[in-house]
Amino acid sequence: MSFRKKVDKKLRQKEKKYETKQLMKEKRSDEYKVLEEVFDRSTLMTVYEFLNKGTIDEISGVVKAGKEGRIYWGRDSDGGELAIKIYLTVSAEFKKGMLPYIEGDQRFVHVRRDTRSLVYAWAQKEFKNLKRAHQVGIRVPRPIDVKKNVLIMEFIGENGVSAPVLKEASLQSPDKVYQQLLACIKKLYQKAELVHADLSEYNTMIWDGELVLFDISQAVPLEHPMASKFLRRDLENLHRYFKKLNVDVLPIEETYRSVTRGKR
Ligand SMILES: Nc1ncnc2c1ncn2[C@@H]1O[C@H](COP(=O)(O)OP(=O)(O)O)[C@@H](O)[C@H]1O
Ligand SMILES: [Mg+2]
Repeated sequence: MSFRKKVDKKLRQKEKKYETKQLMKEKRSDEYKVLEEVFDRSTLMTVYEFLNKGTIDEISGVVKAGKEGRIYWGRDSDGGELAIKIYLTVSAEFKKGMLPYIEGDQRFVHVRRDTRSLVYAWAQKEFKNLKRAHQVGIRVPRPIDVKKNVLIMEFIGENGVSAPVLKEASLQSPDKVYQQLLACIKKLYQKAELVHADLSEYNTMIWDGELVLFDISQAVPLEHPMASKFLRRDLENLHRYFKKLNVDVLPIEETYRSVTRGKR
């Protein structure tokens, strides 16, 4: 590299650092204070990198704060709404809960077992699962980017208000929704080769009259040793929920055979 090029490169790096600092100052608002209180330096840097790259133009408003992480609402540079999911890197409980879904998933055999590495893997897992589902045409939040414990996806809802989850939605035709959700499970199994593993009326949204599956970090590939157990549990949840709504649900074994046909 010529001397001139080296100098240019150094200058660019300096500029970039300066820009990040400026951005941090300019964009400092209540939300940033919240970010700073809850998350460690590394997480803040990851968020700032996304701001710097332009993936996120604006971050504001906590959509939901849970034990394991938080969902923020934001916008990209075209004004499109984003859901920014940030996992906490400190929860020991979370680690215990995650392990069965990571162990046995061939995509993550080489991940270290300390909490931070597992949480990073968890975010990657959600991103990869969303991608796999999205690619085969299952309605999920479109995955945009992921780094460390920060995942960016399409916002399902409008003006920072999330679409209602199935539990909150008033269904005109529960029968149809039951059929749609069953078809979703089947497509996820047959085409994306994944089992959701946490399917419930809380992890499904209804938006524009369409079902949207989300929160799929725990979803496992069909080769996972617990895949069939998880699928049965998903189908039981579906069965239980729609039975309460007086839907004429199919026997679980029948739905199990239909979902897995040709794959087992
Ligand atoms: N892509 C999204 N668009 C809009 N709202 C979302 C999105 N993802 C999550 N949410 C909202 O945040 C809540 C929690 O998200 P979820 O992914 O289920 O996190 P957790 O792992 O804490 O359960 C959801 O119930 C929903 O209201
Ligand atoms: Mg959830």
